[in-house]
Amino acid sequence: MTDGRAASLPTGEAKVQAVRQMFDAIAGRYELVNGIVSFGMDRGWRRHCVDALGLPAGSRVLDAACGTGDLCRELAGRGLRPVGVDLSEGMLSHASSPAPLVLADALAAPFRAASFDGAVSGFALRNVTDLGVLFQELARVTRPGGRISLLDLAQPEAALLRFGHRLWSNYAVPFVGSVLSDQAAYHYLPRSFAYLPPAPEVVEQLEGAGFAAVEHELLSGGISQLYIATRRPEPVGRAS
Ligand SMILES: C[S@@+](CC[C@H](N)C(=O)[O-])C[C@H]1O[C@@H](n2cnc3c(N)ncnc32)[C@H](O)[C@@H]1O
Repeated sequence: MTDGRAASLPTGEAKVQAVRQMFDAIAGRYELVNGIVSFGMDRGWRRHCVDALGLPAGSRVLDAACGTGDLCRELAGRGLRPVGVDLSEGMLSHASSPAPLVLADALAAPFRAASFDGAVSGFALRNVTDLGVLFQELARVTRPGGRISLLDLAQPEAALLRFGHRLWSNYAVPFVGSVLSDQAAYHYLPRSFAYLPPAPEVVEQLEGAGFAAVEHELLSGGISQLYIATRRPEPVGRAS
């Protein structure tokens, strides 16, 4: 983890339990609060995430940590064939998506090797217990030449934007969350940035897991980010 704020954050199995409980608790109003606290920008980021895959209609795409299925809907709307996986029963039960959604751990995804043409994830990188294992799993289930596009929030670099962003995520987001949903969960958001390694480290982990042509893109002045990559030809990861 990246700074002193990380000290009080759970890791390992304690994080799995905390994340599952938190998303179970906020599932009912998850999409509403997302839209409000991002001023609707999350929809554009999701569209961009799917555009960046660059896969033709009919491609089978895994949505790792699919939550209520936002990205699955975006994928299906483009004629792609999504399959979602998430460990929160609450999030899946509030999902409205034409895609098959599976209750499972994305770090041990119940799918055969090379069974997808691509994979996406939305706002999940901060929430898994081990990014390296997630990337290995995505490399395992994605066919050689397949594409991944991983979206998450970020903290802007520019001082003024960073200051405004900090005020927004430390005070405004928990306030909106407490009025409309669950205060504790939305206090977790600003703290969860500490889980994300710096971009060069994430790029290195993706390359180590079996991806090439890794790109890192900042969106909306750096409040959101996307990692895009192509699965290398050689086999990686655990056997199916
Ligand atoms: C911020 S939500 C994002 C939901 C959705 N992807 C979106 O774009 O809105 C994070 C999701 O990650 C899920 N999650 C965290 N760790 C997971 C894991 N190891 N396997 C599957 N889902 C996981 C949580 O249950 C939660 O639904």
